[in-house]
Formats: sequence, C-alpha cells, structure tokens
Amino acid sequence: MGRARKVVLAYSGGVDTSVCIPYLKKEYGVEEVVAFAADLGQGDELEGIKEKAIKSGASKSIIANLVKPFIEDFAFPAIRSNALYQGKYPLSTALARPLIARKLVQIARELNADGVAHGCTGKGNDQVRFDVTIGALAPDLKLLTPAREWGMSREETIAYGEKYGIVPPVSKKTPYSIDLNLLGRSIEAGPLEDPFQMPAEEVYGITSSISNSPDEPELVDISFEVGYPVAINGERLDPVSIIKKANSIAGRNGFGRLDIIEDRVVGIKSREIYETPGLLLLIKAHQEIESLTLPADLLNTKFRLERQWANLVYQGFWFSPLKEALDGFINCSQQQVNGTVRIRLLKGNADVIGRKSSNNSLYISDLSTYGSDDNFQHKSAEGFIYIWGLPNRIWSWINKS
Ligand code: ARG
Repeated sequence: MGRARKVVLAYSGGVDTSVCIPYLKKEYGVEEVVAFAADLGQGDELEGIKEKAIKSGASKSIIANLVKPFIEDFAFPAIRSNALYQGKYPLSTALARPLIARKLVQIARELNADGVAHGCTGKGNDQVRFDVTIGALAPDLKLLTPAREWGMSREETIAYGEKYGIVPPVSKKTPYSIDLNLLGRSIEAGPLEDPFQMPAEEVYGITSSISNSPDEPELVDISFEVGYPVAINGERLDPVSIIKKANSIAGRNGFGRLDIIEDRVVGIKSREIYETPGLLLLIKAHQEIESLTLPADLLNTKFRLERQWANLVYQGFWFSPLKEALDGFINCSQQQVNGTVRIRLLKGNADVIGRKSSNNSLYISDLSTYGSDDNFQHKSAEGFIYIWGLPNRIWSWINKS
C-alpha cells in the first residue's frame, strides 16, 4: 500500500512497541514515528514512557489522559448493556481499544501523518479491534503492523532492539502477560496456560483473597438514573469516581475475580484471569434494577441483544452500523431504569439483598401479595388459561386421542 512518511504508533512502553519504532524506520522506510500512549488509569506503568519512546527513536511522544471518555463513553454504555462476553467477561480490556484507536486516528490527523501503527501480534483480539476500528474511522490512513509481520522470537526482538539502544526489560519479574486499566486487570500466559492449574495468588493485584478479605459482610447501595450508576451509598459521584469507589469496595471483599476459558476472534481458546471488581458489581446491580423497572418482554429481548452487543465489542465492531442501532435500542430501554439496589459483599460473593425505585417500580404489592389486601382478580385466571392453553389442547384432541 505504498510507503508511509509519518506514522503515529500506539505505544505501550513494552519491548514489542519499542522495537516497532526503529523497525518502522529501518525496515518500512518511515521517516518519522510519533509515539502515542493512552492513560487509561493504569498508574505507574506510564512512568518514564516519554523518555523511553524518544530514546527508541520517536520524534515526539504524546501521552493522552483518556480516563474520563473511557469511563463515560465506553464503560457506562457497557453497564447499561450488561455487557458480558460469553456471559462472563465484562470487556475491561476490549472496551479500551476503540478509544485508543480513535485517539490514534485523531492525532494522526492533527499531525498530518499519513499512517498509523500498532505493536500487536497476530494471535490476539487487540489487533482485530485496532484494525477494524481504524478501518471504520479512517480507511484512507496507511496501517502498519510490524509485530505481526516480523516473525522474530522474543529473544530476537530484544536483540534487534538492543542494536538501536532499546534496553532489554530488566529480568522479567513475572511470567504473566498483564493488561491493566481503571476497569480491571487481565492476566494470561505462564503457568496459567494449563487450564487445570489453579492461579497462584500472586497473579492478583486489585482484589483481596478470600482469606484476606473482611469476615464481616459489607452492604453497598448503588443508585441508577436512566440506567447509569450515579451514587454509591447515597453519595452522588461522577462516573470515574463511581468506578473507583466500586472497585475499592468490591475489591477489598474479594469480589470480581474471573477464571475463564474464552473464545478469541481468531478461533483460539485461551485461559484468562480477570479482576474487574467495580464493573462486575455495577453490572450486577444494573441487571437487578432493570428486573424491577422493565417489563418481561423488554427484559427478554434486551437480554438477547446484550449478548450480541458484547460480541460486537469483543470482536472489534464498536464503530459499526449494527452496534449503533443496538445502542439506539438500549438507550431507549433505559429511560425508566431508575432506583437503588442493595448488595451484600462477603468473601468474594456479592448478593443482591434489596431493590427499590420510587417512580418506576413495576412491582405492585396489591397484585403480588398473598395477604388479605390482595387485589388480583383470581377469577379472570380461568378464562385467560382457557384461551392461553387452547392451541395445546387442540393439538392433543387431534393427535393424541
Ligand atoms: N482476552 C482479553 C481480551 O481480548 C484480554 C487480553 C489482554 N491481554 C493480556 N495480556 N492479558 O479482551
């Protein structure tokens, strides 16, 4: 697709993306590489990253703080969608990718670059998410993916980098591959590649173990307005603070750990450990407030579409016509989703123990009660069932007599 002159690279500071800088220049003839790193709340991981990019040969290094859009524009819609890939994974890593790609494209435009690049390998989901998003937002930009093409082993990659002054990673402290942001940690590889092997406690970083979590239950109230969480324990908080607070409450009680086998886009099954305490807690509470405020047919239909929404996001189609249409449905479904859910956290568990909605509860005690104030018209049931069961009785008359 022709040579790129100036390329903006999605940069993480790791060996692969660092080696991408000299590689793009030497092997792809790129004149100028700009390194862009996204701050998604991953903390000290970003320390020294600017210097590292420049030392590796980047002409410019940019760090953009994307925490606010990450939570408001990506995590919050995922909570409204109860998004759980394969019914389990709340997409903590996946949700970040379209945002990073969108910013990458924006920076490329601002700096008048003619290409963008990333350092993903050819086995994972992230390459799919980056490529598909970039294609959707900027089909004209050249997309360079050296780590998918260079065919170097880890040792060869490190050796290549050393030639261009990239210091090899200090003796790898951990055998795991970890992705971190404000929504959680994803951990894979090393001993976890044996799916029957229990994860060592050392893999976890933001949730307490069962033995280290408090012996006393902790109650937490989560309040929603139009399907968005807006307050915790009665305290109104902005979206980023909601996530932080939910992370700390759930995390200290050991809730939010997942150990799953997951189907990657490229057809491979992989074993993943996740810690997503706040996100899982908020989704659980959101499902509950919906069960109180939405009618059964809407709940059922939404449940099916939620699966599809999560699949689309997992598979890289955040920016796509189908996802946008589903967003329209979900947004419409959330207008009456208001109220508060009470959850009890204890030793890795989170149990719903109460829910209320002052204006939108569809729970009518006069109808539900078994007591004397019952207002349900019992006699109407007979006629209803006569008609309801009619097709079934006809079937039996005709076929079973
Ligand atoms: N499998 C997850 C996903 O595709 C997370 C992968 C994150 N990377 C890692 N090093 N664990 O969303």
